[in-house]
Amino acid sequence: MKFNNKIVIVTGGARGIGASIVQHFINAGAIVHILDREFPDSFDVGGNDSVFRASGDVTNSDDVKSFIKGVVTKSGRIDSLVNNAGIIRDNMIWKMDESDFDAVIDVNLKGPWLMCKEIAPIMREQNNGRIVNIASRSWLGSAGQSNYSSSKGGIVSLTRVLALELGKNNITVNAVAPGLIDTPMTRSLPPEVFKKLENTIPTKKAGHPEDIAHAVAFLASDESKFINGQVIHVDGGKSIGANLH
Ligand SMILES: NC(=O)c1ccc[n+]([C@@H]2O[C@H](COP(=O)([O-])OP(=O)(O)OC[C@H]3O[C@@H](n4cnc5c(N)ncnc54)[C@H](O)[C@@H]3O)[C@@H](O)[C@H]2O)c1
Repeated sequence: MKFNNKIVIVTGGARGIGASIVQHFINAGAIVHILDREFPDSFDVGGNDSVFRASGDVTNSDDVKSFIKGVVTKSGRIDSLVNNAGIIRDNMIWKMDESDFDAVIDVNLKGPWLMCKEIAPIMREQNNGRIVNIASRSWLGSAGQSNYSSSKGGIVSLTRVLALELGKNNITVNAVAPGLIDTPMTRSLPPEVFKKLENTIPTKKAGHPEDIAHAVAFLASDESKFINGQVIHVDGGKSIGANLH
C-alpha cells in the first residue's frame, strides 16, 4: 500500500503501537505529523523530512487546535487521522479512584473527540479523508477495566456516529481493536499477569505493534473506501469468546 505524499496525523506516535504506525506510513511514502505529550530520548524514525513532531496533550483543546493549525500551515491538508494515544489505570471498581476514571475517559475518549471535531471541517472541505480510531478488544468487557473498557466502548460508538455524519463527504471512520500487544504499556504489567493474559489468546501469543500498523494502513488506504463505521479486531481471536484450553 502506497501513501506517497499523503499527510497523516498519528496521536501518541512517540512509542509503542503509535511509533510502529508512524514508521509504517513513512516507509509507504507518507508525511507524518505526531502529537504526543512526551518523546523518549531514543525516539528515532529516520530523522528525515517526512516526520514532524509536536508536544501536546490530546485532552487539551488549545493544544489540539494549535497542533492542527501547524499541520495545515506546514502540509496544506490532512488525508488521514489515527487516534492512537491512550492510557490504562486498571483496578476493580471498588478500588478505583474517581481520578483514574476521569483520566482514562479524558485521554481515550475526549481526546479523539477533540481531534475529530477539529479535523472534520478540514476533511469536509477537502471532500476526502480517513479516520482510524484505536479501540481495544476490551471494549467488549474486561474485569478491572471499568474505566478503560468504557472509554473504548465509547470510541467504538464515536466511530459509528462519525461514519454516519461524515460518509457523504468521502470520509470513512473505522476502528481497530487490538488484543494484547507487546508494548511499554502492557510490559508495565507484572510479568506473570502478562503471561496469564497471553495464555487466554487462541494463538497463545501477544501481538506486535506492526500487526496493528498493517490494519490501520489498510483502513487509511484507497482500497478500503467502502468500509465505514466498522471495528476490526486484531487480537489473535480473543474476541471470539471464552478459550479454556
Ligand atoms: N498494548 C496493547 O496491548 C493494547 C491493546 C489494546 C489497545 N491498545 C491501545 O493502543 C493505543 C496505543 O497503546 P500502546 O500500548 O502503544 O501504549 P503506550 O503507552 O506504549 O503508548 C501510548 C502513547 O500515547 C501517548 N499519550 C498518552 N497520553 C497522551 C495524551 N494525553 N496526549 C498525547 N499523547 C498521549 C504516550 O506518551 C505514548 O507515547 C492506546 O490507545 C491503547 O489503549 C493497546
